Amino acid sequence: MSVTPTKADRFSFGLWTIGYNGTDPFGGPTRPPLDVVHGVEKLAELGAYGLTFHDDDLFAFGSTDAERQKQIDRLKGAMADTGIIVPMVTTNLFSAPVFKDGGFTSNDRDVRRFALRKVLRNIDLAAELGAKTFVMWGGREGAEYDSAKDVQAALTRYKEAVDLLSQYVLDKGYDLRFAIEPKPNEPRGDILLPTLGHAIAFIDSLEHPEMVGINPETGHEQMAGLNYTAGIAQALYHGKLFHIDLNGQRGIKYDQDLVFAHGDLHNAFSLVDLLEHGGPQGGPAYDGPRHFDYKPSRTESEDGIWDSVKANMANYLMLKERADAFRADPEVQEALEAAKVAELSVPTLGEGETYADLLADRASYEDFDAQQYLGGKGFGFVRLQQLATEHLLGERR
Ligand code: GCO
Ligand code: MN
Ligand code: MN
Repeated sequence: MSVTPTKADRFSFGLWTIGYNGTDPFGGPTRPPLDVVHGVEKLAELGAYGLTFHDDDLFAFGSTDAERQKQIDRLKGAMADTGIIVPMVTTNLFSAPVFKDGGFTSNDRDVRRFALRKVLRNIDLAAELGAKTFVMWGGREGAEYDSAKDVQAALTRYKEAVDLLSQYVLDKGYDLRFAIEPKPNEPRGDILLPTLGHAIAFIDSLEHPEMVGINPETGHEQMAGLNYTAGIAQALYHGKLFHIDLNGQRGIKYDQDLVFAHGDLHNAFSLVDLLEHGGPQGGPAYDGPRHFDYKPSRTESEDGIWDSVKANMANYLMLKERADAFRADPEVQEALEAAKVAELSVPTLGEGETYADLLADRASYEDFDAQQYLGGKGFGFVRLQQLATEHLLGERR
């Protein structure tokens, strides 16, 4: 198998990722601006299939209609020349001063109305470009101080916004779904819908929950100390994995946006295994774009941008290769069997069995020897993880 990506792998990159100029809270740019046409050409050359963007990545906030249209036309030209598509579009409701207290949930009602108008305009553009997913990352939707934000009112306003946008998409007949991107903090001290679980619960409160899923990011869950693969499994369980932001993160700290697999490598391995194969018994696997939301480190010059683009895709493909071998290994199959991984898919009660039958079943309680689990009946999970590690390190193939 080759680690050279093709369009069939469906790798996509944010314009803000390859276009990251190195600015952080402690220093300005270390790289000059990247032109969108050049970016699209490079992505196509390196084997990606898609570009995603925020409105303000393509045309600066406050652009005139003519400036905006010029950039849209330049992007369309580059798409036609390269075959690159735009699978996802998102709106910047966080950079401009007007959004300093958020967009949909700003305490200032005028700002909320302006935010809705900005998003509505961008939804039209997303549909025009053929995007199927509209991501909503509420980076500024939050607060630093408990006294500053009525969280229940903020969630009500969030719902009002998403309900309005869903109705707009329905009325326009656009083939577009929404994906909420959770993040625990940064830039706000605390962001609303901080984890994928919070977001899934919120979606349940919406008028059109079927139109709204999530866009979980590796580093965002790991910033909260959570297991990303387990979170993605729960998103699949709820049918809510509409899009994905892949990157790397090393522990509970600021959002590092490293190259995919440059953070928790074991977790990246289990993630690719899950996305490609579904759960151990099959289970739903993900068939959307493999989207990278990372930042080429500010230590790099332009060559480093393209090296890191290649690294994201190669790491994914190498892990896919290792995951395929892991699944096919008879010793792994045997270890999975010994660990009773498949037994978890067997319903706990027999078909038609009731709690009365369970109460009458002496083998399940009165005659059951719970003592045999003291010093016996180990599950062999460590052996299984070591086999995974040996595959991951290329020791087994
Ligand atoms: C971040 C987020 C963003 C979003 C983007 C798409 O931490 O900055 O991950 O990069 O993914 O705004 O909506
Ligand atoms: Mn991020
Ligand atoms: Mn992201």
